[in-house]
Amino acid sequence: MAQLIPVAPFDLIIFGGSGDLALRKLMPALFNRDSDGQLSKDSRIIGVGRSPMAQEQYLAAIRASLSAHLKDEAIDEVQWHSFANRISYIDLDAFDPSSWGALSDALESGQDKIRAIYLATAPDLYGPVAQGFSKNSLMTDNMRIVLEKPVGHDFDSACAINDSVGACFPENQIFRIDHYLGKETVQNLLALRFANSLFEPLWRREVIDHVQITVAEELGVGNRIEFYDGIGTLRDMVQNHLLQLLCLVAMEPPSSLDDDAVRDEKLKVLRALKPMGTKEVQANSVRAQYKAGAINGTAVPGYAEELGSASKRETFVALKVEIDNWRWSGVPFYIRSGKRLPAKHSEIVIQFKPVPHAIFDQHYGTTPNQLSIMLQPDEGVKLSIMAKEPGPGGFNLRPVSLDLSFEETFDIRYPDAYERLLIEVMRGNPALFMRRDEVETAWRWIDDILAGWEESQQKVDTYVAGSWGPPTAAMLMDRDNRAWEASDS
Ligand code: BG6
Repeated sequence: MAQLIPVAPFDLIIFGGSGDLALRKLMPALFNRDSDGQLSKDSRIIGVGRSPMAQEQYLAAIRASLSAHLKDEAIDEVQWHSFANRISYIDLDAFDPSSWGALSDALESGQDKIRAIYLATAPDLYGPVAQGFSKNSLMTDNMRIVLEKPVGHDFDSACAINDSVGACFPENQIFRIDHYLGKETVQNLLALRFANSLFEPLWRREVIDHVQITVAEELGVGNRIEFYDGIGTLRDMVQNHLLQLLCLVAMEPPSSLDDDAVRDEKLKVLRALKPMGTKEVQANSVRAQYKAGAINGTAVPGYAEELGSASKRETFVALKVEIDNWRWSGVPFYIRSGKRLPAKHSEIVIQFKPVPHAIFDQHYGTTPNQLSIMLQPDEGVKLSIMAKEPGPGGFNLRPVSLDLSFEETFDIRYPDAYERLLIEVMRGNPALFMRRDEVETAWRWIDDILAGWEESQQKVDTYVAGSWGPPTAAMLMDRDNRAWEASDS
């Protein structure tokens, strides 16, 4: 394994420091990087939250979260104590100008270090926090600000947030996180496409029939239900994770891996997404909500029961997307994401066209080739090709798989996406983060779908928890004589 280079000393200030994201993802990620020696001795982590909390209570919450989210053997007690020594907690109400004193005092020292602000909060706090730093003279020469997705809830609110954060920070100091871009297998998409000469000539409309992108989750919305009921799957998953995956599949080869080279190409894809008017939204989108069912034999309640009231919020979305450019004209991208599906399963499927001329007996037929890129939980790449079954008696053909499992091939622990992304923030490398124009262009396209749903009062279908979504999602493909992979519907 390559030698890990420690990052320069930093002060990381996490707003929402006692919240779900900080405890479940950020602290375990930082702990792992610390255990691997990547955090220098002087780096500090300051959790900021609205409610007062004693230091011991905060550390106890973090320790409990490490136990819940990391394997026992990953938590060495000596290591934990050294990690805990970096951490402090400060209560602060970002909207209250008089409550910045304690943070200002804490940041009195360390002005020469990297100063990174992580906003693990609702987006309405992004502007006020950025401005709080500016007004309280807490800006140094080496700042970064990290914004969690979703940035805003539509195009206008995203622009307002970008304006207000942008008034205090230049774009190259703003890191908009989409943690899918930090996933090892998502990055491998770049390697697969651009480090192999095999695929590029095939990556086009003449050879590809369609593309499918599935991001399925077993989990429901859990204790985030109130937040989730305000946004739903289209804003929570499609606007960012699924569109980013789509961009990485569809973009032209970038000229380098530089920050802007990849992001410029992704932006071109977002700009080429065929806008959906109300009619197209009705024809090419499905929104649905889970009702009570069972996952792996365990009964689970429906969304409305969890919420305690009826709601039209979607927990599942399927879309047929078209990209208006030379390469992809006429190649639909079917994308879907949902909660309470039968398994956690994220996969990109490139479905090739059938052979143009059949020389084998119709009876044996040929199945078109398929390249599937499994993102989680079993990372790998599978290419299905036709082969002749051994033996006499004619050409009995059968699809077989060339199968690469990353776990078997590279015998190492995969760092969590947040581990990589936090280190990239400290290194000041924005390549794996979303640029302002990407986020806003994605919102513009999503806004049309939201408007189409609203205008047509499109029905929110239901699906039984533990199924692959509503029948209408299957029909979206079925009517084109296609079918979703990895599903029984
Ligand atoms: C987050 C969404 O961005 O991604 C969550 O807000 C979702 O609703 C999560 O559960 C899925 O991430 P992962 O890494 O578990 O696929």
